[in-house]
Amino acid sequence: MRILTAILVIGALAQVLCEDSNTYKAAVVEYFPKKIDGNLNEVVEGRTNEYIEILSKIGEKLDIIVYPESTLLTGVVVSQSKLIEEAAIVEVEDVPCANEKNHQKYFVNLSCAAKNHKTYLSVNLLEKVKCEGEKCPHGWWMYNTNVVFDRTGKIVASYRKLNLFGENVEVPKPMRTTFTTDFGVTFGMFICFDIMFKEPALEVVNQGVKHFLYPTMWFSELPFLSAVQTQYMWSYENDVVLLASGANNPKKGSGGSGIYQGRKGPLTTYMSDKEGTKVLIADVEKVWKYSEDNEIVETSKEVEDVDGLLLIYDKLEYYNTYNLDVQQREYRFKISEDFECNFKVEARNTEVEVSKKSYHYKLVAYSGERSFSGVATGNVQACSILTCTDESLKNCGHRILKNEDTYPIKFDRIEIEMKVKENENSKQFPNAIYSNLKPLGSRNVDWKENGRSKVISLKTPGEPFITFGIFGRVF
Ligand SMILES: *[C@@H]1O[C@H](CO)[C@@H](O)[C@H](O)[C@H]1NC(C)=O
Repeated sequence: MRILTAILVIGALAQVLCEDSNTYKAAVVEYFPKKIDGNLNEVVEGRTNEYIEILSKIGEKLDIIVYPESTLLTGVVVSQSKLIEEAAIVEVEDVPCANEKNHQKYFVNLSCAAKNHKTYLSVNLLEKVKCEGEKCPHGWWMYNTNVVFDRTGKIVASYRKLNLFGENVEVPKPMRTTFTTDFGVTFGMFICFDIMFKEPALEVVNQGVKHFLYPTMWFSELPFLSAVQTQYMWSYENDVVLLASGANNPKKGSGGSGIYQGRKGPLTTYMSDKEGTKVLIADVEKVWKYSEDNEIVETSKEVEDVDGLLLIYDKLEYYNTYNLDVQQREYRFKISEDFECNFKVEARNTEVEVSKKSYHYKLVAYSGERSFSGVATGNVQACSILTCTDESLKNCGHRILKNEDTYPIKFDRIEIEMKVKENENSKQFPNAIYSNLKPLGSRNVDWKENGRSKVISLKTPGEPFITFGIFGRVF
């Protein structure tokens, strides 16, 4: 009993000593994998050395750094056996930096980098696990795995991507990985396409975890699922921190990173058509509470172009639509007993001359299945106002390029309600972006959920959005 008391006192003391700050310093790396001539081994070595150089150049003491999905290995076409050779053996509690002979050199180097820079370090790689039997033709299972080293280079957590996107690796048993840091924060993690699913991401949210690592290689889609738009809506709706690190390859459509403080807003985001590596750093609050006077207003000096970013577009031909009519204040789509969209809109024509460079607007509603690039299917819901580059539906969600966009209609009021069936296997998100693919924040948008009814409204009249509405998933 006395021992127990002593332990409790020491425990309490340690807590007091460590929790002197309500913030931790996080970095996410939007990494552009430059082409490296050479075999797989040389490519991975080159990329690893770059990863570590990026960390060395940061020049601030970090608590955690997150690298994106798949960028150690991308861009090399090799045989399965070469990939197996290069894949890592991942065991929690192992310290590759102190156990060199059992690991590939790049994995050792990453573990040592965490130790040398005294930071938690999250890296995504290919993991291999020995297997036997018929279903195991090469002798190894391969997984898309995220590994976290602590400040001593020890592996403290690993997570295998569950919701694969056409990747030639195994589907693992679901893992709800979490780990607790020496700065008192517990993190969950998931990878890329996982953000669209309940297992494991939302299940870990339901366990009460408030901070998440998110390595991704996301191919932005309009009107609802460009990279930062998706990251922000997930962080906002769940009111959790998301450290999102995106693989940069804008000509192929991937990119987009950010550090998000739940409902308080994004601390920093990056969405650009520039090929290149970019490090985002922020002081993240461990505990926070959103209120109107403490929301974060992101102030970035650099304005990034996104015209050169390759975008994909959702197929809107299945959607129900109305053209916006400035005379009409209410629109209703009753798709079924379980799904409705109700719009209240006050809009007016402005003096802006209507030209080819002016947006048209449609109100859209949809509930049903869709395909994700032919690779996966899922059920989605949408009630939204969209801009279109002409009167046709197929050009809704498209951007006007070269900053030549004009918005001849001003919205004085928007209130959009989505009425859904109450279902713990569905989730709805406020979803609104500007033409630069950055989200409208808490200052501009109000969001209320009340049983079956989900309502987004515009707080700041006249915002020049390209998407404003609600996006949902039925799992
Ligand atoms: C490991 O680190 C050493 C020393 O910085 C470097 O020379 C080497 O290229 C690295 N190897 C790999 C495979 O990353």
